[in-house]
Amino acid sequence: MPSSITAAPATPPSSSRLPEAEVDPIFVQRWSTRAFSAQPVPAEALRSLFEAARWAPSASNVQPWLFVYASGADLTGARELLREPNQRWAGSVPVLIFVFARRHHPETQQALRTAAFDTGAAWFSLALQAEKLGLRTHAMGGIQHERVHAALGVPAEDYESIAAIAVGYPGAASELPADLAAREAPNARKSQREFVFAGRYVSPSS
Ligand SMILES: Cc1cc2nc3c(=O)[nH]c(=O)nc-3n(C[C@H](O)[C@H](O)[C@H](O)COP(=O)(O)O)c2cc1C
Repeated sequence: MPSSITAAPATPPSSSRLPEAEVDPIFVQRWSTRAFSAQPVPAEALRSLFEAARWAPSASNVQPWLFVYASGADLTGARELLREPNQRWAGSVPVLIFVFARRHHPETQQALRTAAFDTGAAWFSLALQAEKLGLRTHAMGGIQHERVHAALGVPAEDYESIAAIAVGYPGAASELPADLAAREAPNARKSQREFVFAGRYVSPSS
């Protein structure tokens, strides 16, 4: 491993998180914590996250992403839009961002085949910017997709509900429910061998 690649201080040591090639440490440092501090996120920091998302690439530069965020008094209703397993840990998260992707091209009305891909790029730009600011993010597909449109005023015919993102400063794992506290550690990754192929895919069964 090149000496310039180091694990994050908050990341417990794990051989499964060693990079296989030179990579900026931020990619390995970021992980989806459940332990968040209730410390508010300054408005300026939040703008910085959305600015990172703003510069993401998208097919035909349509920029199909849409973010509706809740902080302060809006959080009570927003938390109810999470599915119960996520409500268990997201109680003290100071910001919840709901992510939508536009369904159709604004001019041609053609279906946007790569809108979720583009929106994924935007969310991950936001996540890396958060990491740079000492914030943590945790994406959640486990939200009540059937409720978010009406609750947040986003028309379902125009936008697909994709996920929510918890944003905040790191908190103490000891404040999580015991079962989640015991699992509060970064995940491993597959080896590049399993998902990168030169020239032609080779099935593991062949
Ligand atoms: C689109 C998406 C949906 C996810 N949904 C949930 C979820 O509902 N609840 C949860 O606890 N984590 C959720 N996660 C977090 C993943 O489990 C996590 O990103 C994955 O295990 C990799 O771990 P890491 O982000 O810590 O590297 C989601 C992540 C993504 C990108």
